Amino acid sequence: MTYNLSLILGKEELQNAAAPLNKAWTLPPGAYTNPEVFKAEIANIFDKDWICVARQEQLKKPGDYVCFELPHQPIVLVKDLSGIIRALSSVCLHRAMPIVEGAGNTKRFTCPYHSWNYELDGSLRSAPMMQAVEGFRKEHCTLPRFSTEIWQGFVFVSCNNNPEPLGPQLEKFAALIENYDFERLEVIETLEFPSPYNWKILVENFLEAYHHLGIHKTTFQPTYPARDSFIEDNDDKPWFMLRMPGRPPKTEGEDELNVFPKLAGAQLFELFAACVYPNLLLAASPHGAYWYQLEPSAHDSMHLRIHALAFPEVAETMDEKTRMEKRAGVRFIHEEDITANEGVWKGLQASSTKQGRLSLYEKAIWQINRLWLARMKAL
Ligand code: FES
Ligand SMILES: [Fe+2]
Repeated sequence: MTYNLSLILGKEELQNAAAPLNKAWTLPPGAYTNPEVFKAEIANIFDKDWICVARQEQLKKPGDYVCFELPHQPIVLVKDLSGIIRALSSVCLHRAMPIVEGAGNTKRFTCPYHSWNYELDGSLRSAPMMQAVEGFRKEHCTLPRFSTEIWQGFVFVSCNNNPEPLGPQLEKFAALIENYDFERLEVIETLEFPSPYNWKILVENFLEAYHHLGIHKTTFQPTYPARDSFIEDNDDKPWFMLRMPGRPPKTEGEDELNVFPKLAGAQLFELFAACVYPNLLLAASPHGAYWYQLEPSAHDSMHLRIHALAFPEVAETMDEKTRMEKRAGVRFIHEEDITANEGVWKGLQASSTKQGRLSLYEKAIWQINRLWLARMKAL
């Protein structure tokens, strides 16, 4: 795909975003609002990077499957009969009907249109009434397969033919979150949020605590003050981490609510939020862990699922009241952030809107913008 991002967004504006942190600006508004930019993100990011599509525990038994919509490619992840997790295109090789949606367990996939029948490894098992079609061989019909990698229990897919392994790129980040044992966590609750705004707005909001001063001034700000927050150096690798040291609890015994036995020192009071680029967002405090799963579909829309995670032995003993409180807590905080995200989306459409200056507390946005500019070959 040939395109010139400087023509769409302005060379000076892109250079402003790439400047050193204390001189840096936000991306120009068109980076969020222009559908051509989203098309370029598909080619340069979603078709190339590792995209987080599921948790491994969603694929425990042979036949378990989960679907995920990349903006340019619907995918079904399935554990096949030999126990391998495969990522297959879910588009039928006959006339392009998606063969499956949602999640479940199956022995085979049968296309709902004309009943072509696929094995769990993507090979075509049968195609009714095709015997008389000259040269048709079912052996020639196997659903395209994509690379997969599991990191900390999250299943990633890459449409890139020969992707650079993800794990080594995340070594420093993995060490920082080691005490949370993400590998062992499981999804216990999921909330769904159709989100009518550009996906980058949510990622940016997630990775700065500067907005605790406004959007969360009565919720997060008293415990996790904006001024104490800081961003880890990521050595230009595809991960970002915001750390929010907390004030020790006023009520005695509150710190005993920690659900992560290995946490120590400052971690006992800390909230962190992190991103494995582009679409895995994670947050955890001693009270629990959350996975924000982003499924961008266009420049102006995305489906967001917020999953609460817990250790299986904790989940087993969790009563409905605790689960309800967890759901309500997630919803309450995210609704505060929706106000910010939808407000910014509206503001970005205004004809007078231009780039703004970043604060030093928004260092993760600066890191992300530099990665985005590099991925998009913008400069
Ligand atoms: S489109 Fe799938 S069987 Fe026809
Ligand atoms: Fe927020």
